[in-house]
Amino acid sequence: MTTTEALIAAADAHSAHTYDPLPVVVATADGAWMTDVEGRRYLDLLAGYSALNFGHRNRRLIEAAKAQLERVTLTSRAFHHDRFAAFCGELAELCGMESVLPMNTGAEAVETAVKTARKWGYRVKGVPAERAKIVVAGNNFHGRTTTIISFSTDPEARADFGPYTPGFEIVPYGDLTAMRGALTENTVAVLLEPIQGEAGVLVPPAGYLPAVRELTRERNVLFVADEIQSGLGRTGRTFACEHEGVVPDMYVLGKALGGGIVPVSAVVSSAEVLGVFRPGEHGSTFGGNPLACAVALEVIAMLRSGEYQARSAELGGHLHRELGALADTGRVTAVRGRGLWAGVDIAPAYGTGREVSEKLMDRGVLAKDTYGATLRIAPPLVISKEDLDWGLAQLRGVLGV
Ligand SMILES: Cc1ncc(COP(=O)(O)O)c(C=O)c1O
Repeated sequence: MTTTEALIAAADAHSAHTYDPLPVVVATADGAWMTDVEGRRYLDLLAGYSALNFGHRNRRLIEAAKAQLERVTLTSRAFHHDRFAAFCGELAELCGMESVLPMNTGAEAVETAVKTARKWGYRVKGVPAERAKIVVAGNNFHGRTTTIISFSTDPEARADFGPYTPGFEIVPYGDLTAMRGALTENTVAVLLEPIQGEAGVLVPPAGYLPAVRELTRERNVLFVADEIQSGLGRTGRTFACEHEGVVPDMYVLGKALGGGIVPVSAVVSSAEVLGVFRPGEHGSTFGGNPLACAVALEVIAMLRSGEYQARSAELGGHLHRELGALADTGRVTAVRGRGLWAGVDIAPAYGTGREVSEKLMDRGVLAKDTYGATLRIAPPLVISKEDLDWGLAQLRGVLGV
C-alpha cells in the first residue's frame, strides 16, 4: 500500500463520508501549486472553491497572521479588541456600505443575512409577525445548515434533513417574470448569487440583475447578493454585481475574505439595515476575532490595489478565449463564467466531469466537477499565465485535442 492509499484508508475509517475527494493527499502548498505526500506536484485549478483567491500561503497574508499570532488571537465579543474597528470600517468602505456583521463560515453569514432580512421586515418594513418571505433562485447554493438546505433544490443536499424551515419561495434563476410574480407585501428579501457557482458557474442573462435591483427597490425588498464565491476579485471585479452596475442592499461575503488561512465571513449593509440588531439578538464566539480581522484587513488592503481584480480580468479573458477554442472542437458543449472562473460542460463522449478531473489529476492538475458533466475551473488569481497555459494544455490532452 502506498502512503497515499494508507492515508486515504485511514481517513475513510475515521471520518463521515460527506465528500468524495480525488485520491490525492496534499502535504504542502505554495502559490498555485500543491505537493502531495509522495512529492508529486499539482497545479491547483480549484483554489479551495475560491477561498484561496490570493494563492496558497500568500506571503503578505502569512505575515499578517504571524504578527497577529504574537499579539492576541481571540477575545470573544465580550470585550473590544484593537483590530475590530479597522476591519469593519475598511470592509464597509470596500463594499461602499456602512456596517459589518462578522461571522466565520459562509453558511453562517447567509443565516445571518436571513435573520437580518426577517428582523428588518418586521421592525422596519412592517411585515406581520411570522409572515416574512425570502425569494431565492432554483439551483442555488448558499451552504449546508438546516435553514439553508430548506430552500435548496438539490435533492442530495435536502433529502432526509427535514422538517424544513418555512418562509422561502423558489423561482427559476434568471426568470424576471417569475421573480416579479413571487414578490408580495410580505417579501423581505431576494437572496441571489450574482453568478451561481456550485450550479456550474451559471451567469444570469444580461439585464437580469439590474432588473431585480429595480424591482426590489420599487417593492421595498432587500436585494441580498451572496458573493461568498463570486466576490473578492474572482470575476475580475471586486464584486460580480459590478459587471452589471448593480449595488445590492447587502453583500454576503466569506471564503477569500479569510485569505485561505482562517474562516472569515460577513454581512455588509447599511447602518439602517444592520441597525435592527440589539445586543443579545445575534452573535458568534469566533466572529470578528483578532486573528480573523488581521488576515481580512490584509485581504482588503490587497483588494484595494485592484491588482488581483485586474489580473483575474486579464488572465480570465485569456482563459475564456482558450476554452472557447476548445468548445469549437466539440469536446466541450458549453463554457460559462467571468474572469478566472469557468464552468466547462464536457461532451458526454469524452467522460463525466469526475472522470476528466481524475485524468487531470494524473497529469498534475487539480480541478473539480459539479452536476455530473461540468468541470469547474477557478485557479488562484496569482497563477502565472505560463502555469495556466500548462493546465489548459493538460485539459486539451485529457480531451484528446
Ligand atoms: C455562494 C455560496 N454561498 C455560501 C457558501 C457556503 O460557504 P461555507 O462552505 O463557508 O459555509 C458557498 C460555498 O461554496 C457558496 O458558494
